Formats: sequence, structure tokens, C-alpha cells
Amino acid sequence: VKIIIINGPNLNLLGKREPDVYGNQSFEAYFSELQMRFKDVQLAYFQSNIEGEIINKIQEVGFSYDGIILNAAAYTHTSVGIGDAVKAVSTPVVEVHISNTFAREDFRHVSYISPGAKGVILGFGLKSYDLAIQSFM
Ligand code: DQA
Repeated sequence: VKIIIINGPNLNLLGKREPDVYGNQSFEAYFSELQMRFKDVQLAYFQSNIEGEIINKIQEVGFSYDGIILNAAAYTHTSVGIGDAVKAVSTPVVEVHISNTFAREDFRHVSYISPGAKGVILGFGLKSYDLAIQSFM
């Protein structure tokens, strides 16, 4: 199974950024744990703060990979372009959020990703990514 995790803006700062909301582990450290936990999965990781780069990556992998795990971060709530890319590809996309976006500000209650997603996992901290990988198995 070939799966890619795509993280959007500011998620490169995980561990430093609002640790009360997002925890104090860097994504790189967590990603190594995932690779050890899911040895049979070919796991790739991509992060960008740039909307178009996220769209390019979804297009690049979206006809060959078995799964895309997408945390579009703030673009979740704004990006018609990323939402359209999710709908355009044949690879199933699971939307992930670290925090429970529904327990936060109103503007986080809207997702442009969900309509095209296979499913959504949110609110379990970094463990949300674990659960998303398991959803493909
Ligand atoms: C997030 C939630 C978004 O609302 C926020 O903009 C993020 C991270 C999460 O993983 O909880 O940057 O996607």
C-alpha cells in the first residue's frame, strides 16, 4: 500500500506552534514513529505553505497512490482549488485534522475538502493520522 501524507500551511511548525492546541511533537519525529508502526505501508510525506504546491502534489500522486491523507490546515476553510483537486483525482482522500475544528471558531466549521473526501478524522491529536492510515487497511 502506497500512502502519502500531505500537510498544509504552518504544519511545518508542529511542536513549536500553539502547543496547547497541537501538542509538542514535531511532525518529523511523529512521521518516523508512523514508519516504524506501519512497516508494510510505503509512506510518503509532503508539506507546503503554498496552496498551488499542494494542488500540484495532489495531481502528481492522485492517479497512482492508494491513498492521500490530507491536512490542508487553514486552506481547508478557504480553498476551492484544493477542494476541486481532491474531487479531480482517482486516489481516495482522507481529510485529517489534529484539533477538533468543530469545538473551535465558527470559521473552522466549514471545509472545502470534506465534499470530495472519502472520510474525515479529526480531534485525536497526531493520532488522527494513525487512524487515517488504518482506514486504508
Ligand atoms: C488544523 C485545523 C485548522 O483549522 C488550522 O488552520 C490548522 C490545523 C488541524 O489539524 O487541527 O492549521 O487543520
